[in-house]
Amino acid sequence: MAQKIRVAILLSGGGTNLQAIMDASRSNRIDARVVSVGSDNPEAYGLKRAREHGIPTFVVDYQTIIKGIRGRSLKDLVPEDFDLETVLARQTFPSATSDRIKAERYFCTRAIAEAALLREMAAYPFDLLVLAGFMRILTPYFIDHVNTDPSQPRIMNIHPALLPSFPGVDGYGDTYRYGCKVGGCTIHFVDYEEDTGPIIGQKSFEIAPDDTIDTIREKGIKLEWQLYPECIQLFAEGRLRVVSKTYRLEDGTEFNRKVVEIAA
Ligand code: GAR
Repeated sequence: MAQKIRVAILLSGGGTNLQAIMDASRSNRIDARVVSVGSDNPEAYGLKRAREHGIPTFVVDYQTIIKGIRGRSLKDLVPEDFDLETVLARQTFPSATSDRIKAERYFCTRAIAEAALLREMAAYPFDLLVLAGFMRILTPYFIDHVNTDPSQPRIMNIHPALLPSFPGVDGYGDTYRYGCKVGGCTIHFVDYEEDTGPIIGQKSFEIAPDDTIDTIREKGIKLEWQLYPECIQLFAEGRLRVVSKTYRLEDGTEFNRKVVEIAA
C-alpha cells in the first residue's frame, strides 16, 4: 500500500462524513489518515466521533471570538501577516464591494479566527484539508496560507447539491423546494468564492413524487459518504490536476473555467 496522506478535517456538526472517512481509512479503502479534527462549534458531535477514534481535536469558537472583539480596535488584533487590501482584492463577495466598513469588519474578524485555526492546525501537519460540513466561509487569508502553491489546491469541500445549482447553506432543502427531479452532492476544491471552486466529483439521485425533504437528505448524505472517500483517494493517488479552460461562443464571448482533470 502507498504511504497514507495526512488529512486535516474541519466540521461544524454531526460529522457523519468524518465517520465515513475515518472508517474508509481504518479499513484501508483509502490511502489517507485523519490527523486532526477542528471545529468552530464546541458542541459539534463530530468532535466526539474523532476523540473516540483517538484523533486530536480542537475548537476555534468563532462566536466567542467575534463577540470578544466587539468595540475593540481590529487593527491591533488582526494577525501580523494580514493585509486587508490583499484580501479585499482577492475575495469576490458582493457585499464587500458595496459596503467597505462592513467588509473591513468581516474580513478582519474572520482573519483573527482563521489565524487561530491555522495555529491549531500547525500542530498536526497535513497534506489535504477536508471540509466536512464546516459551515464557515474561509477567506483568502486562510486559503492562501494552506494553498501555498496555487496550482495545487489542497482544500476540499462537500456541498449538498449539484453545483453550480443551489450554493449556500441548505442545498438539499433548496433542491426540494425548487421541485427538482434529481438531486445530488458535489466535492470541489475551495476557491475565493462560495461553493464555486473546481469540481472534483458529483453523485446524483432521483427524486420521486413521494420524496420528502427528509428522504432527500437521506438519499444525499448516503452518497456523500461514498463520494468523499473516493475523491480523497484520487487526491492521495496524485490523480487530480486543475487546468484552465477557455470556452468561446459563436459571438466571441469567452468563458474561463478551472476544470479538474482526473488522470487514468
Ligand atoms: C453534509 O450534508 C454536507 O454536505 C453539508 O453539511 C452536512 C454535514 O453533515 N455541508 C454544507 O452544507 C457545506 N456548505 P455531517 O456533519 O453529518 O458530515
